[in-house]
Amino acid sequence: MAELPSEIRAFVAEKTDEGVDRGLRTIAAADLGDGDVVVRVDCSSVNYKDALATIPKGQVARISPLVPGIDLAGTVVEGPGEGTEVLAHGYDLGVAHNGGYAEYARVPGEWVVPLPDGLSTTQAMAIGTAGFTAALAVARLERHGVEPGDGPVLVTGATGGVGSTAVSILAARGFEVTASTGKDARGYLESLGAAEVISREDVEGDGKPLSKQRWAAAVDSVGGAVLAGLFPQIRYGGAVAATGLTAGIKVETTVMPFILRSVALLGIDSVQTAMEERAEIWRRLAGDLRPPQLDDAIAREISLDELEPALDAILKGGLTGRTVVRVG
Ligand SMILES: NC(=O)c1ccc[n+]([C@@H]2O[C@H](COP(=O)([O-])OP(=O)(O)OC[C@H]3O[C@@H](n4cnc5c(N)ncnc54)[C@H](OP(=O)(O)O)[C@@H]3O)[C@@H](O)[C@H]2O)c1
Repeated sequence: MAELPSEIRAFVAEKTDEGVDRGLRTIAAADLGDGDVVVRVDCSSVNYKDALATIPKGQVARISPLVPGIDLAGTVVEGPGEGTEVLAHGYDLGVAHNGGYAEYARVPGEWVVPLPDGLSTTQAMAIGTAGFTAALAVARLERHGVEPGDGPVLVTGATGGVGSTAVSILAARGFEVTASTGKDARGYLESLGAAEVISREDVEGDGKPLSKQRWAAAVDSVGGAVLAGLFPQIRYGGAVAATGLTAGIKVETTVMPFILRSVALLGIDSVQTAMEERAEIWRRLAGDLRPPQLDDAIAREISLDELEPALDAILKGGLTGRTVVRVG
């Protein structure tokens, strides 16, 4: 059993009368939270949800003070699996239980996934919740029956964490990928394997219940009007994997694409994914679902000191790819 330091460096968000006070602090081992496994955290990552956990209107943080960080990877220093490398994400992590933005995390053993062979802790966090969600979406689309020969697959919010990883995984699996973005990012998205890059506006469609059938399937990380605009443009029998809400939570649609074209809406949740499927997707992320550009185009690395501006940037849709946070 490891002797934990008396002061643990952490990024903390605490609700105040004025809003949320956030920044680097030291916390005691006793403040890490409940659990039978203590992980020395190597790295975490920046997700949209992490940023929501640090702002007054985010509606994500359920404890205060909170160490955010819905992702972590490191080495078990106490509890079952001591000495092994692991990762954890989802459940209450970084939301109602202190998360990955601290040098140590104490978590229930049921939340811990062994680091798959072939992935380093840094690579696992370059994937993180966003990349896991992208992989889950691709796996569910394929389980639905979508195949590379079926036609182009659209990825919305394509330069974001979910989007960039989805583009990379789909292209590597032989799908013809159309990437939709609000940024001037054609070169970046082509380097991930996109065959076509279109604007956000081009995805919104013509407002008709049924439009030209453009895509065999879609991975949507945006929600709102963008998601609503997709259904009428999905080919007969195709599917949309809905993962996110950066453009809003309200989706106005008609039943027509569903009942006249057999279009399916697949809901993707990474938080409560059952451990069997969670571990399987992580094994596949080290294998046949591995994003080829993991070490270069997809991820960049920052320190805990550089975290705050990155959280602000992701809220404005301003980050490209994935951001790994070096903690340990
Ligand atoms: N279901 C789950 O379990 C799960 C897991 C992870 C993430 N999520 C959700 O998925 C979404 C993406 O997460 P992320 O970490 O990938 O965030 P991210 O890196 O910020 O990516 C989101 C992307 O969406 C686009 N975007 C931003 N604001 C927009 C707007 N107002 N209208 C249209 N597009 C907009 C931007 O891409 P472009 O500039 O390229 O258009 C942005 O980069 C979030 O809503 C997050 O909460 C859900």
